[in-house]
Amino acid sequence: MPKTLIYTLSLSPSPTQLLKLLSNYLHALKETGDSNVFLSNKALSNLRNLPNIIATKSDPGGDKSAALEQIKQRISEAESISSLRDTLVFSSGSPHSRIMFVGEAPGEEEEKKQEPFVGPAGKLLTKIIQTMGMRREETYISNIVKFRPRIDGESQGSANRKPTKQEMQNFLPFLLDEIKIVKPELIFALGGTAMTGLLGIESSVNSARGRIHNFRKHSVIVTYHPSFLLRSGSNSDKRKLWEDILMGMDHLSIPVSDKQRNYFK
Ligand code: URA
Repeated sequence: MPKTLIYTLSLSPSPTQLLKLLSNYLHALKETGDSNVFLSNKALSNLRNLPNIIATKSDPGGDKSAALEQIKQRISEAESISSLRDTLVFSSGSPHSRIMFVGEAPGEEEEKKQEPFVGPAGKLLTKIIQTMGMRREETYISNIVKFRPRIDGESQGSANRKPTKQEMQNFLPFLLDEIKIVKPELIFALGGTAMTGLLGIESSVNSARGRIHNFRKHSVIVTYHPSFLLRSGSNSDKRKLWEDILMGMDHLSIPVSDKQRNYFK
């Protein structure tokens, strides 16, 4: 093993630094004429897991799960808002993730399972995360509003409505506390409600997407909500969302393969 690699390893490099080193090492091998490297099954499986490792940060000290549990408790003890239904749907995923997804509010499926993004839009979100090379559990997933907005009438069935401004404002302090605890390095605001609820931007998603916003020292990318993609079915919209995701992966130095870069082109 080259000396610099041993030296840097002894300094406990982060997974991102390690990946850079590995990439430099492989490029150096290539330049000296090597075109094949032998990888054991173990090494291959470790490499395959690298995006997940890179998506997660270590958390020396502080019990994030307990702190999040307290927020959940505070929400359930807060005065209920009669315009919302009664089942609390809190966040899911890893409190150690570098990536946080924020959606609008739970729907019927989410309410049944008490977990965000488990209905059709959630299935698409899971696919997007897997296409990034990660597992859903390695990211942190939350919503602006933690109860399903109520629609008056006998039975709401599968009908949903967007949360009102007041409902969003009531829940913003909780979401900000979640952000303070998780400290994600990148937040994806999915759709117009997440964009307005979190960033206060009232324009169209189209005009806010495609760049990184700075919000209280956190990087935020606004992109389409998966439900919008399910409705639109347009390849060009899928590509735009994917470009936002690629921008996020580049921002976090998560490796992107040529195959990943070219999806939906
Ligand atoms: N849409 C959202 O915005 N959030 C969910 O949890 C489910 C669907």
